[in-house]
Amino acid sequence: MTAEPAIWSALPLPALIVGAPDTIDAVNGPAEGFLNRSARALRGADVCRIVRPDGGMDAALGRVRRNAAPLTLHDTDVAVGPGPSIRCDLHLAPLGDDRILVLVAPQEIAGRLNRARSSRRAARSVIGLAEMLAHEIKNPLAGITGAAQLLSMNLSGDDAELTDLIVAESRRIVKLLEEVEQFGNLRPPQRRAINVHDVLDRARKSAMVGYAAHMELVERYDPSLPHAWADPDQLQQVVLNLLRNAAQVGKQGGTITLRTFYETGLRVSRPDGSGDAAPLQIEITDDGPGIPPEMANNLFEPFVSGRENGTGLGLSLVAKIVAEHDGWITTESVPGRTTFRISLPMPPRGT
Ligand SMILES: Nc1ncnc2c1ncn2[C@@H]1O[C@H](COP(=O)(O)OP(=O)(O)O)[C@@H](O)[C@H]1O
Ligand SMILES: [Mg+2]
Repeated sequence: MTAEPAIWSALPLPALIVGAPDTIDAVNGPAEGFLNRSARALRGADVCRIVRPDGGMDAALGRVRRNAAPLTLHDTDVAVGPGPSIRCDLHLAPLGDDRILVLVAPQEIAGRLNRARSSRRAARSVIGLAEMLAHEIKNPLAGITGAAQLLSMNLSGDDAELTDLIVAESRRIVKLLEEVEQFGNLRPPQRRAINVHDVLDRARKSAMVGYAAHMELVERYDPSLPHAWADPDQLQQVVLNLLRNAAQVGKQGGTITLRTFYETGLRVSRPDGSGDAAPLQIEITDDGPGIPPEMANNLFEPFVSGRENGTGLGLSLVAKIVAEHDGWITTESVPGRTTFRISLPMPPRGT
């Protein structure tokens, strides 16, 4: 193909080049994932049998050729392979030499990526604030607590209650600051090839004797899952934060499911053309009330909390750690079923 190769590999969405007569000339990495077939298997194949939008691919390609103008099919159901069809926006553009560029924007993936991107930005913006807050507030607060404790020695009854209140509230602020400080203190991940299931197991055991004691934890692990390229302590922190949130909304006897599986579908290309594949999937699903819809779009932002006494830092720390692992975190929630999915890369070749 003659199109600028860097642009081609930087495209974050499945893209195909269709030659005459309606055969596939080239596909990019995301298209291989989306269509679940290798580039070699796809080259030369009849595109109308492989990408099947409502109204037919041949009709769409015919219109583009006739009008020599681009065409977008919005909200069209595209069938690929034997699975259920996927709702997409399909963009077709003539390349001027009888070939047509077909860009597939699956709505679910597009939505997921947007949310994941905004969570990366949010995670970065909190770091500077975190260090400033922790330093500026913790020291005077220690002074206030100490002074209240001194005062209380000469007080009794109602007055002592007030100094107790100062001390208790100060402790709460210190706890919040310590959570904030985790951002500033977070060292870069020490990544190595690790077994994800070991990490999940440790997190599960610790949750079961702690805040998730009232829940049932179910494991659905893919035993053949390859190793991940991750910092086990930081990954455990991520899983613990997600388990804690699930347990906090869970009823007595509710279920949290930990699931792992391998999926090549979600693949993201960096601007320099190198690809981020994150095929290892970890899902944590609860049967609680679901994420309040008004929070769904800024869930990973710092200080966004739906709980009384919540700091809203748990998920932004999660987002920060996952981003530093070149991974993605996405979520889907309806009442009765909330899933957080972490997508992680495998160890680099040769390690
Ligand atoms: N599994 C879940 N089900 C429903 N709501 C959730 C879940 N996980 C997180 N949330 C919502 O997201 C908010 C933010 O979570 P988080 O960042 O951990 O902060 P915090 O737990 O301190 O509130 C929670 O307060 C809650 O409203
Ligand atoms: Mg939390």
